[in-house]
Amino acid sequence: MATSTTGSTVDALSKLSIDDWASTARNLRKNLPLLSPQQVELAKMLLEMNQSHLFEHWPEPGVEDDEKREFFDQVARLHASYPGGLASYIKTARELLADSKAGKNPYDGFTPSVPSGETLTFGDDNFIQYEEAGVREARKAAFVLVAGGLGERLGYNGIKVALPIETTTGTCFLQHYIESILALQETSSRLAQGEGPTEIPLAIMTSDDTHSRTIQLLETNAYFGMKPSQIKLLKQEKVACLDDNDARLAVDPNNKYKIQTKPHGHGDVHSLLYSSGLLKEWLGAGRKWVLFFQDTNGLLFKAIPSALGVSAIKEYHVNSLAVPRKAKEAIGGITRLTHQDGRTMVINVEYNQLDPLLRATGNPDGDVNCETGYSPFPGNINQLICLGDGIDYVLYIGQTYLSRGMQTTYVEVASGYFYPSLLGINDSLSYFRYKDSTKTAFKSSTRLECMMQDYPKTLPPSARVGFTVMDTWFAYAPVKNNPEDAAKVPKGNPYHSATSGEMAIYRANSLILRKAGVKVDDPVQQVFNGQEVDVWPRIVWKPKWGLTYSDIKSKVSGNCSITGNSTIALKGQSIYLEDLTLDGALVIDAVDGAEVKVGGSVQNAGWIIENVDFKDTSVPEEVRIRGFKINKVEQLEKTYKEPGKYSLKP
Ligand code: UTP
Repeated sequence: MATSTTGSTVDALSKLSIDDWASTARNLRKNLPLLSPQQVELAKMLLEMNQSHLFEHWPEPGVEDDEKREFFDQVARLHASYPGGLASYIKTARELLADSKAGKNPYDGFTPSVPSGETLTFGDDNFIQYEEAGVREARKAAFVLVAGGLGERLGYNGIKVALPIETTTGTCFLQHYIESILALQETSSRLAQGEGPTEIPLAIMTSDDTHSRTIQLLETNAYFGMKPSQIKLLKQEKVACLDDNDARLAVDPNNKYKIQTKPHGHGDVHSLLYSSGLLKEWLGAGRKWVLFFQDTNGLLFKAIPSALGVSAIKEYHVNSLAVPRKAKEAIGGITRLTHQDGRTMVINVEYNQLDPLLRATGNPDGDVNCETGYSPFPGNINQLICLGDGIDYVLYIGQTYLSRGMQTTYVEVASGYFYPSLLGINDSLSYFRYKDSTKTAFKSSTRLECMMQDYPKTLPPSARVGFTVMDTWFAYAPVKNNPEDAAKVPKGNPYHSATSGEMAIYRANSLILRKAGVKVDDPVQQVFNGQEVDVWPRIVWKPKWGLTYSDIKSKVSGNCSITGNSTIALKGQSIYLEDLTLDGALVIDAVDGAEVKVGGSVQNAGWIIENVDFKDTSVPEEVRIRGFKINKVEQLEKTYKEPGKYSLKP
């Protein structure tokens, strides 16, 4: 990553000789001959930033010399991967720590109000129009999946994107995402007749925890049908941990020659897109939209076409996807903040900050539901659609630098899409507790973090930052919690588990088919891994079968019905359901160009859901974390390998 050490630090260091510092780090001084000139520069920087404790334990030259060099290799990596280098990281940390010690409220001087956005109802005329606009626009989009997270809450041994989104077909999240993008690509290119085909690029942000396994998943599955050149992996680096208010870097408890590190958060994606040159390449090639999404939301692509349509029609520079949110619900609220000095921004405010902020600014009841039964501040689901061009931020960047007391050095701007996180401007402190009332040292080390959704914080007031609210049932069902924690979720709150994530797919597909005219039985309630969920018929389809609601509607006609115990899997672009009565399991797999009309009565013993205990280690982890498995007793399965017209009427 390119670095841009701020002018003042560089000047100060260049005027000093290492001898000026060595008195504070005698052990380092003795070891200087071991170091390369670049390492000496890094040593100077560390001493200048009051980090001499890192060398306190260094023995005489000749003892553990390799470890000493490895220490500097790590310092070099940390320095290179943070915008502005380690000195900038430490400086930002000190500022934030001082603010925190002083109890400074980050929203001091700001008054919250409800921002403007669009609320969509699945399947109505407005929704359909936005979907059409979104699909047209998709050929100018690039997708960015942030998949560097450890998933500690879920506790799954593998990477999250390798988990099945549902176990009827076993399709994993990454496959579903890639197939959804390919379906958008195909339909969007078709609509733009004469403008030639388009390849929609996908960037995946990984970390050391997920990188090699993500590559392996892609390679062993032929990139799930995408061209390998369409996919770019960007690996985020971890950042240094901090031990006290002076931002002294924490020594790894297991290795005294290592600085302890932890993930920096999904906000890294902005600076990585910038520093890798990928963003510039995309914008140079005429890409207009950058869509950021997360690793385990199996419903997201039902919401993408319409949300992109909203962005396109309203020309939003940033469009945050949101869901209705009950007052005080534990999900960030999208809020307009207006400062006394006139500054405004539309931003995610965490729920535990929103209520006190409202109370402190003339709303004695805090965050309360309005006439809709929901809080007027919609719930942020952290999927962002950003407009890649149109604003010239150069001036604005200069102002931001200066207001932070930094000198503007060379700033390269990729066609107006500027990333404030480049200089750590969007960093915040990760949660920490002080050791004692002196508020100096911490119970355990902390670090700086940055959040993808904080991007609009530093946009100028002229930027159009809006949101699109969608009903949760078709937009948001992440898999974040392990079975034990999910079972403890208070009644009425979402489990966000592998169980609820899979059931949400069946529910959404059932409701969509119902809306399209199919008679679908009501769900039954069942308990899996201690979580009570609605079990709908297991209705699944490939993204190319039903990319938009209009698409789905055009493939369903006559009197179709599906019983509650049924399963249907539609794996083909042109499968048409006409007067189909299903009571059992039906699987249709058809190549592109095979048009299959399916009707008549399909009845068999079907696929049965059976309980599994998550502690039963004889069952694969990805299955037992759901609390059920699918027993495939009997099905009608048809595969069409050649293009042509077919009719299936049992
Ligand atoms: P989560 O909030 O799910 O966090 O991240 P997590 O780290 O994956 O899981 P926990 O908190 O340890 O349980 C939201 C999205 O951001 C990505 C995740 O992969 C997920 O898609 N992420 C998170 C990163 O890419 N990098 C990070 O440093 C953190």
